[in-house]
Amino acid sequence: MTEINCMAPCLMGIEKLLSDELKFLGASDVKAENGRVFFSGDISLIAKINICSRLAERVYILVSRFDAYTFEDLFQGTYSAPWEKYIEKDGIFPVTGRCLSSDLHSVPSCQAVIKKAAAERLKSKLKADVLPETGALYKIKFLLMKNNVCLMLDTSGDPLHKRGYRALSNDAPMKETLAAALVELARVRSNHTVIDPCCGSGTILIEAAQKALNIPANGKRSFAAEKWSIFSPQVWQEQRELAYSRIKSDCAFKGIGYDIDDNALDICRRNARLAGAADYITFKHRDIHDFSESFGRASVICNPPYGERLADIATAQEIYKTMGKVFTKKQGWSYTVISPEGDFEKCFGRKADKRRKLYNGMISCQVYQYFRNEP
Ligand SMILES: C[S@@+](CC[C@H](N)C(=O)[O-])C[C@H]1O[C@@H](n2cnc3c(N)ncnc32)[C@H](O)[C@@H]1O
Repeated sequence: MTEINCMAPCLMGIEKLLSDELKFLGASDVKAENGRVFFSGDISLIAKINICSRLAERVYILVSRFDAYTFEDLFQGTYSAPWEKYIEKDGIFPVTGRCLSSDLHSVPSCQAVIKKAAAERLKSKLKADVLPETGALYKIKFLLMKNNVCLMLDTSGDPLHKRGYRALSNDAPMKETLAAALVELARVRSNHTVIDPCCGSGTILIEAAQKALNIPANGKRSFAAEKWSIFSPQVWQEQRELAYSRIKSDCAFKGIGYDIDDNALDICRRNARLAGAADYITFKHRDIHDFSESFGRASVICNPPYGERLADIATAQEIYKTMGKVFTKKQGWSYTVISPEGDFEKCFGRKADKRRKLYNGMISCQVYQYFRNEP
């Protein structure tokens, strides 16, 4: 099958993790840039990545990439792109995008030029006088960065962090893709015990369980490209069946979630059921001040509360201090905490063994990892 150039955007800071995941899923020519990973693969791979990726935000087909300093460059570059390979005569093709550090900086003007050039190309190549735009949705996305344009088609539709298991969430849920990144950083395996002492709506534990059990991240949702004629329905069916056939029917993974909010714990239980992970995770009411475990080994992964108002900051810092006391150095134990608090290590009382910058939405955070056990 022909190779197609693609791009998957991701949260800033997880490009390397996503590159490794894409290679594992079968992608070639994998190349990471800020917040995005370029790769190539065939139609089946695009379906597979949509269904299985835990870290990609979307999968785009990269239809063309070229430099544009003027609207004429933009028009000609867009007109030269092979839109007719993907978009049908009746396809709906809205254009959205962003301009960053470029000579062309008006998003609405760029949008209009790209729309016009793509329409002219389609009319000419598909021999159509009019394009009714009544059929499937082919969202064109452009990114103009430093005078270089990427023209893309969105195969995913809803972003891939919308897995379909989070029917309900608490006040401050984290993106599923960020939770999956923490699970990767903590190197969770199928036989691990994972504990989240401030579990909120349970996202970290659900992502950890799905990884341990090999449950496809997006097996239960649909994708925009399922309605495109270049993807036959069998491609999606085959990839879903393949992904489901790899689910482990039994594994030693154990997830334990604690929170002081009973409503959040109810949400966790419901979400875990929807995610097919309920048999592997238990959720209990417990304050982090009472954290102590008798397991031989475990990975603690946590997204503790952080404060925005002064009173909340004091409470959050109190929790970080408590963590420093209850997260003791023990053989076989590791602690992975994500926090935007600059003074986290000071409150915790120990320098992290490893630190890495990640973004929780627009909030710049650090992931603090503690895994060395020697005194
Ligand atoms: C930022 S949220 C966690 C969100 C979670 N990662 C998710 O995806 O839904 C922090 C959680 O810590 C809980 N929490 C606050 N104080 C706590 C304490 N003393 N002990 C345990 N949990 C606490 C809150 O109820 C809240 O659910």
